[in-house]
Amino acid sequence: MRIAVLKERAPGESRVAITPETVKKFAALGATVAVEEGAGLTASIPDGAYSEAGAQVVPGPKAVEGADIVLGVQAPDVMALAGAKPGAWVAAMFDPFRNGETVEAYAKGGFEALSMEFMPRITRAQSMDVLSSQSNLAGYKAVLTAANEYGRAFPMMMTAAGTVQAAKVFVMGVGVAGLQAIATAKRLGAQVSATDVRSATKEQIQSLGAKPVFVEDVAGIEGEGSGGYATEMSEEYQKAQAELVSSHIAKQDIVITTALIPGRPAPKLISDAQIATMKPGSVIFDLAVAQGGNVEGSQPDQTVEKHGVKVVGYSNTAGHLAADASALFARNLYNFLSAFWDKEAGKPVLDEEIGDAVRLTQGGKVVTERLAG
Ligand code: NAI
Repeated sequence: MRIAVLKERAPGESRVAITPETVKKFAALGATVAVEEGAGLTASIPDGAYSEAGAQVVPGPKAVEGADIVLGVQAPDVMALAGAKPGAWVAAMFDPFRNGETVEAYAKGGFEALSMEFMPRITRAQSMDVLSSQSNLAGYKAVLTAANEYGRAFPMMMTAAGTVQAAKVFVMGVGVAGLQAIATAKRLGAQVSATDVRSATKEQIQSLGAKPVFVEDVAGIEGEGSGGYATEMSEEYQKAQAELVSSHIAKQDIVITTALIPGRPAPKLISDAQIATMKPGSVIFDLAVAQGGNVEGSQPDQTVEKHGVKVVGYSNTAGHLAADASALFARNLYNFLSAFWDKEAGKPVLDEEIGDAVRLTQGGKVVTERLAG
């Protein structure tokens, strides 16, 4: 069983899908690991650390030669897989709803694409869930970045020269990233409020010591679709939410938006007119900017100034914490493959519940139902 990891080639991708820690763990399962030279450099992992852990460090794309399994953060271009075994598995993020062509190319190439974003939200898969591990770091980094862009302090400070008021932070979308954003902003001393379409989040917001801001008495308020994800909301709800948000954000200093709906563009939560009601010097961090953005006019990797308000967002927020993001991502992949490791066969054998959920292509065909129609 040969596991290969290529250097990430997507622009701006700083993470790596394997760490010396997981190299050792895969080796303990009996696998041989090959890592492309320089693959870990942007995540502060020198080649020597991989070789010390027992990996073969191989120059260039040759690293995939003879591989049974290729691991990636973002799925490599199918051309880069030349030399991997026929039918090899590739476990990575495929962004399948937006990368239909890549998925087709994997099918044609005869590879088995395993999309880590499609990991089901069940208890036993929590340790394999890259969306959670990366969103958690992203929520933290969003708050730090906003604090950095903000020309005032977060905590209340009583000084001899007078009092500095605590910053008011509003978090929109309270999933994994939103919860971490709330916790981080609280730790920095801000006054925090938060909203979501899923009413179950109200208690979670309160338990972190923040104030819930919710649309009440509107049809379809539950907002919870399958697997703990949000659904698209009714027009009536969207109107009520816009009114509530308008009155609330005018009083905020920092807004962190994290709202996503799987398979759809991110919902628009803040319009240009609403930004205009905010105080000059306020900061909005749009964590959904790479999925179309929650904020009108937000641009990936740019600070856009609108009506004196800075609108910030990264195309790859977790990638700004490349070392930790890689460590968690690599553990997610290890937890996934090792949970299914068949000792006699010397390789992982997936079960139906998780295998069918993550598998996009097999036997030359696109097999996932989620991309049908
Ligand atoms: P996500 O990244 O898909 O969305 C972020 C948040 O935005 C969600 O809370 C969603 O409800 C919210 N949102 C969507 N549309 C909105 C709108 N119009 N206005 C305001 N908010 C909106 O969600 P994420 O972070 O991946 O997690 C969602 C849920 O799944 C959480 O309850 C989380 O605890 C659960 N989960 C469970 C896992 C497991 O059991 N293995 C793993 C990961 C998450």
